[in-house]
Amino acid sequence: MSGYPPEMQESIRMVESTRPRRIRESFPAMSLEERGAILKAFHPDYKDETFHAIRVGVSKGQRMPIELARVVEGRPHIGPDFNLSDPMIETDVLVVGGGGAGASAALLAQEQGAKVVVATKLRFGDANTMMAQGGIQAADRPEDSPPIHYLDVIGGGHFTNAPDLVEALVVDAPVVIKWLEDLGMMFDKAPDGMMMEEHGGGTSRKRMHSARDYTGAEIMRTLRDEVRNREDDITVIEFAPVIELVMDDQGRVVGAIVMNLETKVHRFIKAKAVVLATGGGGRLHYQGFPTTNHHGATADGVVLAYRVGAPLGYLESMQYHPTGAAFPEQIVGLLVTEKVRGLGAQPINREGAQFVYPLEPRDVEAAAFIRECREREMGIVTPTGQPGVWLDSPMIEIIQGPGTIQRALPAMARQFGRFEIDIAQEPMLVYPTLHYQNGGVRLRADTSTEVPGLFIAGEVSGGVHGHNRLMGNSLLEITVFGRRAGRSAATYAQQITLGTPNLAHVEAWNRELEEAGVDTGVVSPILLPDYTRHV
Ligand code: FUM
Repeated sequence: MSGYPPEMQESIRMVESTRPRRIRESFPAMSLEERGAILKAFHPDYKDETFHAIRVGVSKGQRMPIELARVVEGRPHIGPDFNLSDPMIETDVLVVGGGGAGASAALLAQEQGAKVVVATKLRFGDANTMMAQGGIQAADRPEDSPPIHYLDVIGGGHFTNAPDLVEALVVDAPVVIKWLEDLGMMFDKAPDGMMMEEHGGGTSRKRMHSARDYTGAEIMRTLRDEVRNREDDITVIEFAPVIELVMDDQGRVVGAIVMNLETKVHRFIKAKAVVLATGGGGRLHYQGFPTTNHHGATADGVVLAYRVGAPLGYLESMQYHPTGAAFPEQIVGLLVTEKVRGLGAQPINREGAQFVYPLEPRDVEAAAFIRECREREMGIVTPTGQPGVWLDSPMIEIIQGPGTIQRALPAMARQFGRFEIDIAQEPMLVYPTLHYQNGGVRLRADTSTEVPGLFIAGEVSGGVHGHNRLMGNSLLEITVFGRRAGRSAATYAQQITLGTPNLAHVEAWNRELEEAGVDTGVVSPILLPDYTRHV
């Protein structure tokens, strides 16, 4: 019994017929020139008409997807006369965001002696961290080193990354793995106790540490448990998205306005320092793409930080994960981890031919999938009209031995098994899906921004990955820079005396919009995508 309709099964027969040849012959990787050409022709970042240069603020002229520009140029939820005289709570460090970066920041800030409040839009842990599958990179083997990791990151980012940020990422990586393990994270290990480490796209050494194919969920479980353990010093407020930052008369960020998601009441949280760890914006569905992201991923942090004057960067670059599920309809856009390709699955067209090396850097791989469907017309089209190519997962069982999928990819097996698709026997249909925001608020290695009192960590920031992030460097980024942000914010908080809180920046922002004749009709941050309001 197969969950695929008969016409798709016909194509699967062709995929099966070419397996013996594909076991013998490996497909070559592209040259740098070929990569450049395919990106220009097929990657969504190169579709100029879907971008817009913003007209206001300190990064006026920065190009970004139209959907993002509409919220960045939006109007605030509150006016400048909002009453700030009665804060609901006062703290040293306010962490905005309850994902992996926010939790890491809270822990390190607490360790520096700070009182910490974590305000999170949905539940603590409702974040892209929780949904990350494949792994976390760190160069901790004798045949590897942080400098080799550095070269991979820079190459993957097409040499556009900020070098000091990449250095921070790769140097802290082994420390972070040990930290997570000490906190209780269950990494995949071989019988001799050594970490099991695999390749990801664009890596020259095996350095992908994992917890099967739910690595992000295991990281989040570990960090969340630890935050809960420290509840005397860390207060978590759920269903409380931040809708505006608050500054003082010396131009420093001194807290934020949160909205009670149920009552819609706004309250002021006063803080000596704020860490923004709000994640990305996949739920803005650039160019109509589906997304791997959780429902709260609406680019709130970019909106908030920009309004108080923090420069933006790299937002002309988004990451489309090559393998989003394309069938069945119920799971379109959900992540099919790159680990599937790391373990040996190959991308195959409707006639059973492999058309690309499986582990090209993500943007190149995604562009190759789009070319196969659009230009070459060699994709498969589902009964609902969704294009896709095959990801031949049964090759994993052939190469690595029977039972590998159940052991290494239980989440994938379950995700497709619910629809009568046994991925050990039949391939998965996949197509690129919006996965990650390469750019964001400009980051510094100590996580400070140009606005005193404002620190950032994770996907809200831009610069570490340049124009293309490699797999496993996002779970690394949130922990490396989350930890740094917690430490920096707490140290800064020890040194300042707050001035008078005010919302003068809101007035200035509204004036600038008016003077520039900008009215997108959007009140931002939007907090949730439109379609969630009707369920
Ligand atoms: O494919 C994946 O498992 C995704 C990992 C990542 O984005 O780092």
